[in-house]
Amino acid sequence: MNEITLDTRLAKHTISRHIYGHFAEHLGRCIYEGIWVGEDSSIPNVRGIRSDVVEALRKIRVPVLRWPGGCFADEYHWMDGIGPREQRPTMINTHWGGVVENNHFGTHEFMDLCEQLGCEPYICGNVGSGTVQEMSQWVEYITFDGISPMANLRRANGREKPWRLKYFGVGNENWGCGGHMRAEYYADLYRRYALYARNYGDNRLYRIACGPRNDDYHWTEVLMEQAGSDRWPGGPYMDGLALHYYTSVRRLPDGSREGSATQFDEAGWIEIIAKGLTMEELVRRHSTIMDKYDPQKKVALIVDEWGTWYAVEPGTHPRFLYQQNTMRDALVAATTLDIFNRHCERVHMANIAQMVNVLQAMILTQGEKILLTPTYHVFALYTVHHDATHVPVDIQSERYELGDYSIPALSASASVNQEGVLHITLSNANPRKAMPVTLYVRGLPVRQAQGQVLRSDAMQAHNTFEQPNAVSPQPFQEIQLAGETVTVHMPPMSVVALALRE
Ligand code: AHR
Repeated sequence: MNEITLDTRLAKHTISRHIYGHFAEHLGRCIYEGIWVGEDSSIPNVRGIRSDVVEALRKIRVPVLRWPGGCFADEYHWMDGIGPREQRPTMINTHWGGVVENNHFGTHEFMDLCEQLGCEPYICGNVGSGTVQEMSQWVEYITFDGISPMANLRRANGREKPWRLKYFGVGNENWGCGGHMRAEYYADLYRRYALYARNYGDNRLYRIACGPRNDDYHWTEVLMEQAGSDRWPGGPYMDGLALHYYTSVRRLPDGSREGSATQFDEAGWIEIIAKGLTMEELVRRHSTIMDKYDPQKKVALIVDEWGTWYAVEPGTHPRFLYQQNTMRDALVAATTLDIFNRHCERVHMANIAQMVNVLQAMILTQGEKILLTPTYHVFALYTVHHDATHVPVDIQSERYELGDYSIPALSASASVNQEGVLHITLSNANPRKAMPVTLYVRGLPVRQAQGQVLRSDAMQAHNTFEQPNAVSPQPFQEIQLAGETVTVHMPPMSVVALALRE
């Protein structure tokens, strides 16, 4: 019943490593404490950036990092975050708790973080409360090599050479916290702001427009029509359109969410996993609209905010969005990444929210301690797909059903890398039932197989600062080879990564 059929000879499109991208906002303890501790901290750091976090993130080969927001981006004035730190003005972070932002982590520190991580920067500019000139000057400051007011200012601040900057977002959620705009109005603003975000020297910006929230297909229609097609001289004016979709039980009027990250029953388990799977329909339907205006797929769908969103942990600041992370989050991560892999022809980047201490984080910190979440471990297992060639999979799955929900228990995606190794990631969403899965592999005579599994005995299993390795990957032995057939025995609620070789 549970069968996967694939043929490596049908491998065609590249799974961009940027699908495995991340997002770090000036929100709660993500930047401050989670990443930036300052040079004088007793926590080991390199130029103020904590070393344990960088070391852990390097292992999952972070390909791209989006910053400074989020809602924060449309209130951020980048000039406040350059120059001697003690002289930088403070501001109020109105979106995220009204706390004081001291601007100690600014452009130079962000670029340093990206260099330490070995990833590409993705900067989101301010459309909501910023000017065209301010955005234009930020790009000049970062990327211009010649003599100009902004390049000279950068040099005065200690950086002689420009940085390379490819990914640039023109506003964030401009339908909401980024300005409450209508699609028609934002589309015109986008065209104007994007024009003045210039290419200097051989630096080529990849301009990303604010895209829809969830199933707002009108937004996609208008943006693609007005700026995403080549019917305009010099068009399309964008390289990417950014979709946002969060998985949650229920959104409350103040923007917060219901439901605990760790206290839930099986109804709460299946509800969140089923809602996570909605990403498939969103990607498909937004892509269909994009196909209409951009049949050559010049414009990418960029899912630059996604992940689970629950009520905050008891006793923590309601606007700091600090939540724990269980096996349920691991399943959402695995099934969502499978969806992106399958749609890699249109989806070129995705950025999970957020990197440290906020929402579906990779890492949680407490003082000098850190822990890696089950979601981190899924990202680790899935590194094998970075820039590999996607192999389409046909999946026959039994249903997993409870209450109003009925979902396929099995999810999977596959890719083949340059050495000819076939990697298949699979997950079993059923928390009560193990699942034998038969894989029919064509095009590769499989003689060797290795696997790793992320599993637990409880749906609510998670890592704590006392028990940081309660949920972590283990070698997976339940694999049998017989000619073109590979059989695996998936434990309940598990994520498995297989490497198959000739
Ligand atoms: O990731 C948290 C917030 O969610 C972001 O700031 C915003 O863009 C979205 O609504």
